[in-house]
Amino acid sequence: MNNKKKYKSLFISDFMKKSMQNLLLKNKEKISKEVAEKIFQIDEVEIAEFIKEIGNHEIEYIPIKKIRQNLATKYIGKNIYSFHEVESTNSIAKFLAENGSPEGTIILAETQTKGRGRSGKKWESPTGGIWLSIILKDNIEPSKASIITLATGVAVAKILRKMNIDAKIKWPNDILINNKKVCGILTEANAKSNAVYYVIVGVGIDTKIDIGTLADDIQEKTTSLNKETSEEIKEPSIVANFLNEFEEIYNLFKDEKFDEILYDWKQMNQTIGSYVEVKQPFGEVYRGRAVGIDNQGVLILELENGELKEIISGECILHNS
Ligand code: BTN
Repeated sequence: MNNKKKYKSLFISDFMKKSMQNLLLKNKEKISKEVAEKIFQIDEVEIAEFIKEIGNHEIEYIPIKKIRQNLATKYIGKNIYSFHEVESTNSIAKFLAENGSPEGTIILAETQTKGRGRSGKKWESPTGGIWLSIILKDNIEPSKASIITLATGVAVAKILRKMNIDAKIKWPNDILINNKKVCGILTEANAKSNAVYYVIVGVGIDTKIDIGTLADDIQEKTTSLNKETSEEIKEPSIVANFLNEFEEIYNLFKDEKFDEILYDWKQMNQTIGSYVEVKQPFGEVYRGRAVGIDNQGVLILELENGELKEIISGECILHNS
């Protein structure tokens, strides 16, 4: 069995065993008998059809119709699936991407039971947030995929600033308000030889979450939009505004106008100029002053001994800002 096939079958069996029952239970009032019967004799195409069918029903929390009222995009959000509960919208997005869903497809959920964060961390996803994934399929080169992550951070920061919220970006793409995290972005790519076959951009925005329900160690580092503004938080219009902004910046990416994306990122960032600590995926820690990012989003640190160090990925902690 080649790797892709192996991965796919593992993913499907995990998906079938754990997610399907949840999806069925949570959405049972919406599912036709015909679809329910399919669950017991299902193949990959049928699973994709099943997801499409249950995902397309209106749910109260983020109704697709309300998103569309403010959506001005050409292709981002043309297909939107909105669920009550899934394990991870990124997993559903991967599956749909591999089963023919086009670029710009959006997957939303009211809650995630196994939301994924960066560096293999869990992403807590209770009711009161926007948990969203976007499928991108434009033969994106692996070396440029990191720019999409930065671009997504720019799109989120821009829409929050339009709500008069002073949002800042911490490298690479955490969105902070008053030094607390309000949004995280997880980009997952499937590399096929040298070209990326699809990219999933997962965005989690805390809109009205109850911070007291989060794990103790993240409570004090986390905020939610309703704590930062007295304006009414309307998730459907936030989603629409984000998708509008995302399409604009993703079009810049497609036109290779990386300088414009990085210019906006630099304008809104809260990392360059700060003393930072970066924890690398394999445990190494670098400390120093962040002095810039290059045109692929790599962070440049000036270490204590004066050496310049390029940091491709890692968890960044700001020590003064
Ligand atoms: C981070 O660690 O900062 C990234 C968090 C990304 C969370 C989002 S929520 C929607 C999508 N589905 C997931 O499982 N993760 C991303």
